[in-house]
Amino acid sequence: MERVALAALAACALLARVHGASTVDWCYHRPSCSHQTWPSMAQTQCSGARQSPINIDTASAKANASLEPFTFHNYGNTSALKKVVNTGRTVKVYFDSGLRISGGDLSEAYDSLQFHLHWGNGSFVHGSEHTVDGQSYPMELHIVNCKSSYEKNTTLAVADPSGLAALGFFIEVMPGNETGKPESWRILTSYLTNITNAGDFVLMKPGISLDDLLVGVDRTKYYRYHGSLTTPNCNEAVVWTVFKDSIKVSKDLIDLFSKTVRVSNSSSPFMVNTYRNIQGAQEVTTQPASRSSTSAACCSLGLMVLSLALGKIW
Ligand SMILES: *[C@@H]1O[C@H](CO)[C@@H](O)[C@H](O)[C@H]1NC(C)=O
Ligand SMILES: *[C@@H]1O[C@H](CO)[C@@H](O)[C@H](O)[C@H]1NC(C)=O
Ligand SMILES: *[C@@H]1O[C@H](CO)[C@@H](O)[C@H](O)[C@H]1NC(C)=O
Ligand SMILES: *[C@@H]1O[C@H](CO)[C@@H](O)[C@H](O)[C@H]1NC(C)=O
Ligand SMILES: *[C@@H]1O[C@H](CO)[C@@H](O)[C@H](O)[C@H]1NC(C)=O
Ligand SMILES: *[C@@H]1O[C@H](CO)[C@@H](O)[C@H](O)[C@H]1NC(C)=O
Ligand SMILES: *[C@@H]1O[C@H](CO)[C@@H](O)[C@H](O)[C@H]1NC(C)=O
Ligand SMILES: [Zn+2]
Repeated sequence: MERVALAALAACALLARVHGASTVDWCYHRPSCSHQTWPSMAQTQCSGARQSPINIDTASAKANASLEPFTFHNYGNTSALKKVVNTGRTVKVYFDSGLRISGGDLSEAYDSLQFHLHWGNGSFVHGSEHTVDGQSYPMELHIVNCKSSYEKNTTLAVADPSGLAALGFFIEVMPGNETGKPESWRILTSYLTNITNAGDFVLMKPGISLDDLLVGVDRTKYYRYHGSLTTPNCNEAVVWTVFKDSIKVSKDLIDLFSKTVRVSNSSSPFMVNTYRNIQGAQEVTTQPASRSSTSAACCSLGLMVLSLALGKIW
């Protein structure tokens, strides 16, 4: 493990690719480059019709039985998280090859490329991108996946309306006054002091897997909609999956994000409020209600028919 300034051109190109082929400057923290300016940047789709994130209105989410469980290939591998990077806009973890998702009503398998995080300012100032019935969360984790047939070429993927699949997980404060928990998040956040400035990255030691980081989430329960990247160029190429359960992380670890990494060098501000605001509404689908509530619906329908019938007789 070594601390390396991200000067290599190849690494820059990689970052640009995964950011959605953006070459222009954008940010969260200065009016001159934040959200409001994104739509006017060259080549962006940031003012398009299927932009993300959205507020998920649970009452209007349509049931669809095709939303089967995913298979998460290699998510238990404790040596697949390769390096952690301060991009100046987020903290991003790149995966080795071999991580993949399938199922989940996706049209084919998708290769998992990286995850990154969105946060506010400490656990009290929320920074999730999606909201549920208007409720935000302290943080949100995004796993970015690319259709396997594109062999990780995200330039090809962003030109396809379903070229990318993003998995969104909300992060909430763990109840009680626990500290340093869960262990997987203690280990992940221990790298933050090694990447305080933009461009810094460190190679990660084997030890934690994606399964370890996604602890406590029932991954069969999720919302689905078709949207976009939430950063420029905001390409409308993303099949979104937002999981209903949140990951519970102790407050001290959540707070580290907004107190450790900076947007540029050591005299620049801390990286805070790294999220895009809610965009327009898209149709959201989810798994049908469980069997018990389905039969309750059947029963009340039955009663209604019965009372109608009785009404007729009477
Ligand atoms: C990360 O920083 C810690 C101290 O904050 C240091 O002990 C460790 O060696 C660093 N790791 C790397 C990979 O630079
Ligand atoms: C469920 O979603 C699939 C596509 O994923 C679609 O073909 C189908 O029509 C949907 N079913 C309903 C009842 O909306
Ligand atoms: C886990 O990932 C590492 C790094 O990509 C790889 O070398 C190893 O074969 C993987 N292990 C399994 C069981 O797939
Ligand atoms: C973030 O929170 C800290 C401590 O509460 C505060 O000093 C700082 O001004 C906040 N930053 C922003 C951008 O709101
Ligand atoms: C991605 O695909 C495009 C179009 O086929 C090609 O021009 C480009 O070189 C590819 N990029 C990489 C990194 O392979
Ligand atoms: C918090 O932890 C302290 C000991 O570290 C304990 O005395 C206190 O009861 C705890 N409070 C809650 C709300 O769990
Ligand atoms: C940080 O960056 C600013 C603006 O680019 C520059 O003026 C300043 O000298 C840098 N400070 C350090 C400590 O490198
Ligand atoms: Zn994201």
